Amino acid sequence: MTEIIDGNAVAQSIRDDLATAIDQLADAGHTPTLATVLMSDDPASETYVSMKQSDCEEVGIEALDIEIDPEADATELYDTVSDLNDDDEVNGILVQMPVPDHVSDRQVLRAIDPRKDVDGFHPENVGRLVAGDARYKPCTPHGIQKLIESAGVDTEGKEAVVVGRSDIVGKPMANLLIQKAPGGNATTTVCHSRTEDLAEKTRNADILVAAAGVPEMIDGEMIGEGATVIDVGINRVDADTEKGYELVGDVDFETAEAKADAITPVPGGVGPMTRAMLLYNTVKATGLQHD
Ligand code: GUN
Repeated sequence: MTEIIDGNAVAQSIRDDLATAIDQLADAGHTPTLATVLMSDDPASETYVSMKQSDCEEVGIEALDIEIDPEADATELYDTVSDLNDDDEVNGILVQMPVPDHVSDRQVLRAIDPRKDVDGFHPENVGRLVAGDARYKPCTPHGIQKLIESAGVDTEGKEAVVVGRSDIVGKPMANLLIQKAPGGNATTTVCHSRTEDLAEKTRNADILVAAAGVPEMIDGEMIGEGATVIDVGINRVDADTEKGYELVGDVDFETAEAKADAITPVPGGVGPMTRAMLLYNTVKATGLQHD
C-alpha cells in the first residue's frame, strides 16, 4: 500500500512541540512576534498570508499584519522593513513574495535583518545554509525533510532528484539533501526547464521532489517503482467548482500513487509544513534574540 504522507498531521505535531517553547518564552516576557508584510493584491498571496497569521494565533505567536498598497513607491516597503528591523518587539519578518515588478526582490531580501529573516532568504542566511551552518533553514525544504523523515525514509546514500531550481525551494532543497547531516547525505540531481530527458532522471529517483510550478507535469511513467514522491506544486487551474478553480500539484497524483511507496497529496502535504516551519523559525529567532 502506498503511504499518503499526511502533512497536516506532521505539521500539527510540530505545532504541539513548539507550544512548550512558546510558553516558556512568553513567561520570560518574550512572546514570539512575527511581522508579515504583504505588498500584493494577488488572491493566492493574500490567502497564504492570512493562513500564516491564523497559524501564529493558534500557537501563541503574536502576528503583526502589515499591508502595503501594491502601487506604492518601493521606498515604502524598504522603510517598513527598516522600522521592523529596529523594533525590538519584532522577532521575525516575512515579506510575502512575489513583490510588484517595480520593487527589487533582491533589495528587499537584503534589507531584512538576517537575525529576523525567518524565511532564510537573506544572502547571509543562504551562505550559512550552503556552508552547513544554517541559522534558519528555508521553510519549504525544511518541512520536506520532516515529511521524508515522518515516512520512515532515510535519505543517506539514496538517489534524490529535485525538479525545479528556484531560490525558495529547489536550490535550498538540493543543498539540504547533500549535507552531511540527518535528512542529507543523498546523491542529488537538480533538474530544470533545460534538462534533457527529464523522465530518465526522475525515474532514477528514490526520492523525488517536484517543485517546478507546472501543473501535473510528473506522471507515473516518470516515477520509479517504490519512490518517495514529494509534490511542492500548488497550482490553481480553472475548474467547474464554486471558486472557479481547483488546486493541483506538479505531480499527477493518480498515476504517481500507483508507482510510489509514499507520496504527498495536494493540498494537505507540503503546504501545511511550510507554514509550520515558519512558526519553528520564528520561535528559534526569538530564542536567539534573547540568548
Ligand atoms: N512566496 C511563496 N512562498 C513563499 C515563502 O516561503 N516565503 C515568502 N516570503 N514568500 C513566499
